[in-house]
Amino acid sequence: MTSATQTPTDRYPAGSAAFPHRDLTGLAGLAPWEILFLLDEAEQWVDLNRAAQKRDDRLAGLTIINAFFENSTRTLLSFEIAGKRLGADVVNMLVAQSSVKKGETLIDTAMTLNAMHADAMVIRHQSSGAVRLIAEKVDCPVLNAGDGQHEHPTQGLLDALTIRKFMQGRGGGGGDFAGLTVTICGDILHSRVARSNIHCLTTLGAEVRVCAPPALMPADIDALKVQPFHDFDAALKGADVVMMLRLQQERMSGQFIASPGEYRHLYGLSLDRLALAEPDALVMHPGPMNRGIEIDSNVADLAGRSAITTQVEMGVAIRMACLDVLTRKTRGVEGWA
Ligand code: NCD
Repeated sequence: MTSATQTPTDRYPAGSAAFPHRDLTGLAGLAPWEILFLLDEAEQWVDLNRAAQKRDDRLAGLTIINAFFENSTRTLLSFEIAGKRLGADVVNMLVAQSSVKKGETLIDTAMTLNAMHADAMVIRHQSSGAVRLIAEKVDCPVLNAGDGQHEHPTQGLLDALTIRKFMQGRGGGGGDFAGLTVTICGDILHSRVARSNIHCLTTLGAEVRVCAPPALMPADIDALKVQPFHDFDAALKGADVVMMLRLQQERMSGQFIASPGEYRHLYGLSLDRLALAEPDALVMHPGPMNRGIEIDSNVADLAGRSAITTQVEMGVAIRMACLDVLTRKTRGVEGWA
């Protein structure tokens, strides 16, 4: 992988400076340099977001539509802030206020949004594959803000950026993912966050372990380059990063766990359990958290170890990078048109 002495451009193949995709619907299939390119692009926005004046007008005159067919707090706000900090006109379409409730088909909604000449669309939908379907019908770049159980690519990217920031902050050189062990624990079956993180982190060379009760482990887990565990204590040994996931009750039809108490006993992250991981292991959670179920409060708030608020911070920077990069062609940026 990369070393601390390499400049960002050294690690992109010659002639490949332009990100070669119109849309960002998933991280599966992206090359390592494409992921690193987006992470590197986000660094400037981390700095801008920490400054008093948080404004860059490169997207001035562009319209971004955030079409959210499923509820969201942090992802919607994060995309809205990202678009506005880059000077774009940002419009939110929330399903409760839309014609979807009146029976309009997904494609008709997409065609309506397309006719309004958006320059980018950010879409969250409860069905896996819905965002790709819309991307095939519209003329502008489409960013997936989470589709069913499939992918949540900006979450995968922001998690990778968070890990890299912490590793660099601790003197970990250029932020190399090779040699890093990441344990993802919880409702893997229903989690698009898990899937995007698995694609992202394995592509970057990390060792990924997934841990879940048998009923919440995907049947096709062997097709992904991960080590599956049902025993959380075993999955924690030697972990550099522990990523906890929420039980996605809204996607469950039937009983997947015996009781919240038993789930916490077997799969909850307590301080005692965290001690089984590496001494300085990083704790992550995409939110929303169920404190006292998958993660104890004193772990979620553990200073120096919990990266949960940094994940939110990196989310805005990553979304700014994605919006900037995917609209370069439209804006006629040299080398991108
Ligand atoms: C996740 C999501 O919506 O997929 N949250 C998020 O985007 N930060 C995870 C979840 O809902 O549990």
